[in-house]
Amino acid sequence: MSPEFFQVHRDLDREGPGSAATTRRALAACGPLPDKPRVIDFGCGPGQPTVTLANALPGAAVVGVDLHRPFLDQLEKRAAAANVSDRVTAWHGSMLDHPGPADLIWSEGAAYSVGVEKALRRWHAIASPDARLAFSELVWLTADVPTDLRAMLEAEYPALGDVETTRKRTAAAGWYVIHDFILPASDWSNYYDPIRARVATLRAQPCSPALTAALDESIAEADIYDRYGQYYGYVFVIARKEVP
Ligand SMILES: C[S@@+](CC[C@H](N)C(=O)[O-])C[C@H]1O[C@@H](n2cnc3c(N)ncnc32)[C@H](O)[C@@H]1O
Repeated sequence: MSPEFFQVHRDLDREGPGSAATTRRALAACGPLPDKPRVIDFGCGPGQPTVTLANALPGAAVVGVDLHRPFLDQLEKRAAAANVSDRVTAWHGSMLDHPGPADLIWSEGAAYSVGVEKALRRWHAIASPDARLAFSELVWLTADVPTDLRAMLEAEYPALGDVETTRKRTAAAGWYVIHDFILPASDWSNYYDPIRARVATLRAQPCSPALTAALDESIAEADIYDRYGQYYGYVFVIARKEVP
């Protein structure tokens, strides 16, 4: 992560599309959990989902895992502000290295960074026997994707598939899919509106060429969603380890 990227992203609430309401909706679809579930949020970023889970599951011990230490500092601050520090732990390292175990495996918009299939197989290995999994993943929403958009997004994420591809990848890693839903458009504004505001603030000051490039890139990404948002989105997949 470049220093300029972090200048844009520092102290944002989220690092990808989503919302506390969507986290709670996915949690409700998980069904019953143990009274004191062990929860791991992989690629937790600044921890909005992590703390939402701690609030929603009063007996849970929740671990947020991320490679980027400053995001974990934000998670710790957020947990303190929500009075859940005693049940929320930051774990600095790769989502492929945490040894588990977990009764609930969570990950919003992060599995792609190591390869979704690899992440799903690893999490299956560290999940407790009756564990639940909930993760969100970028997908094509229609088959008639404009060629220029397909080229742009597949340059960033060559394995980008549709909802059915994601269901199949989940099942191939050993998980039994119980539910999925598409994140609402408001979850995208929830991510891009603060970025647009941050870019405007930073542009009002003298910017290095590297920062200007990072600002341009952030706005270009948000503009692509405004123009083409009907063609792609995030699916939230909820699955269990055991076939019911
Ligand atoms: C798109 S952000 C999503 C953050 C958060 N889940 C959210 O929704 O706000 C992806 C996160 O994954 C983290 N990440 C990337 N590769 C990782 C890895 N190998 N292990 C752990 N975290 C990783 C990044 O630092 C970043 O915080």
